[in-house]
Amino acid sequence: MDMQKKLYLETFGCQMNVSDSEKIVGLMQGIGYVETKDSAQADLILLNTCSIRAKAEQKVYGHLGKFKSLKESRPGLIIGVGGCVAQQEGEKLLKRAPFVNLVFGTHNLHQLQDMVRGAEEGRRSSATDFIDDEARFDLFLPHGREGSVSRFVTVMQGCDNFCAYCIVPHVRGREISRSAAKIVDEVRQLTASGVTEVTLLGQNVNSYAAKNPGEPDFADLLRLVAEIDGVKRLRFTTSHPKDMSQRLIDCFAEIPKLAPHIHLPAQSGSDRVLKAMNRGYTAGQYLAKVSALKKACPEIQFTGDMIVGFPGETEADFQATLDLMQEVTYADLFSFIYSARPGTAAADLPDATDPAEKQARLERLQALQKKVTLERNQSLVGTVQEVLVEGPSSSGECLFGRTGGNRATLLDGDEALAGELVKVKVVEGLQTLLKAEPL
Ligand code: SAH
Ligand code: SF4
Ligand code: F3S
Repeated sequence: MDMQKKLYLETFGCQMNVSDSEKIVGLMQGIGYVETKDSAQADLILLNTCSIRAKAEQKVYGHLGKFKSLKESRPGLIIGVGGCVAQQEGEKLLKRAPFVNLVFGTHNLHQLQDMVRGAEEGRRSSATDFIDDEARFDLFLPHGREGSVSRFVTVMQGCDNFCAYCIVPHVRGREISRSAAKIVDEVRQLTASGVTEVTLLGQNVNSYAAKNPGEPDFADLLRLVAEIDGVKRLRFTTSHPKDMSQRLIDCFAEIPKLAPHIHLPAQSGSDRVLKAMNRGYTAGQYLAKVSALKKACPEIQFTGDMIVGFPGETEADFQATLDLMQEVTYADLFSFIYSARPGTAAADLPDATDPAEKQARLERLQALQKKVTLERNQSLVGTVQEVLVEGPSSSGECLFGRTGGNRATLLDGDEALAGELVKVKVVEGLQTLLKAEPL
């Protein structure tokens, strides 16, 4: 009989959580748990949660309800909640959900082994204190999941921007940058294990090391990482437009390994709304950065995020957002209806717009983007692209990879090409992917 203890881990939200989940798997392996994909088999269930919008938070409670009944049939089952909802709710969660054994915040992964051991002995616990120095990163090092050819490397955590709608600064704490030496070390280790594409990750990588005099800035960090031999392609996310310096824009012209793609969320195209959101730029300033990027790198592809229905957004404000989209022509755009979050500056703003009107605006925006995305994908037909092959496609019939512009691409070829950059010609541009032939 298999006596190994089993961990079922479910991850919600952004890449930060995905990355933390890898560390959680490593930490739990350290105390004897192996990962299972079947919650019914689990001795330990952990949810790594997201609180970015009310719906995301509700999803967590929905899942907890499901696990509650599992626990009724298996009283020894340990249930833990981590991530951004855990950070937001803290001990309240233990009270609200008596079947939950442990609650761990976004800075408390280093306590998780002890907390789980405590739960094995019947103790319930909650830990949500912030750690505001670089020690945060050292505590997080073990990675438990097998890597693909493309990996994220955290360069900073937290956010100091306090956009009026956003809960991230409240649940992730202040910006802390990791030292360049440690980042380079981690990338070297990853490349030694076969990783060829690295994405440098942070809530706002553009302000990397802004508070660490003596450390390279983000443009120089990109150069340092690009110098590592095994790195074939380099990406980063996310960029805040206000901190997008000309030095960083120039990197797209000067660093051949830097992929021609940038995720540059505008959030709105209306100056009035941008001001109320505390974004620190106007639509004109945003578009000037877009033009400078296009000048530095004519093939660059843009993706972004937009919020519709921010309190007080008028039809004219919304039209300004559509105008900005048309000017940028995003390859892809993530769009959301504004959701009031506890403790944020916008939470108490009067919001008279009918929810049905907000929904209608979202649908108009998404219809426009769908059209632009298809047109852009079709415009790539006949062009030569470099695809980094990630492995077999989900159907197993061909290979899956991404262009430098981050377009999902299907191509024929041998599985041994995983991790390689392959030159292809695009033969078809569909709504969500390209089809290509190797040259
Ligand atoms: N740090 C990143 C992303 C943060 S969250 C950045 O600054 O770009 C990802 C996206 O969720 C945001 O860009 C924003 O578009 C959206 N978002 C954040 N808070 C939201 C809220 N309260 N309601 C609706 N969408 C929100
Ligand atoms: Fe949230 Fe703004 Fe920080 Fe992004 S930059 S995480 S949207 S506060
Ligand atoms: Fe969600 Fe937390 Fe990321 S709120 S989007 S998981 S930082």
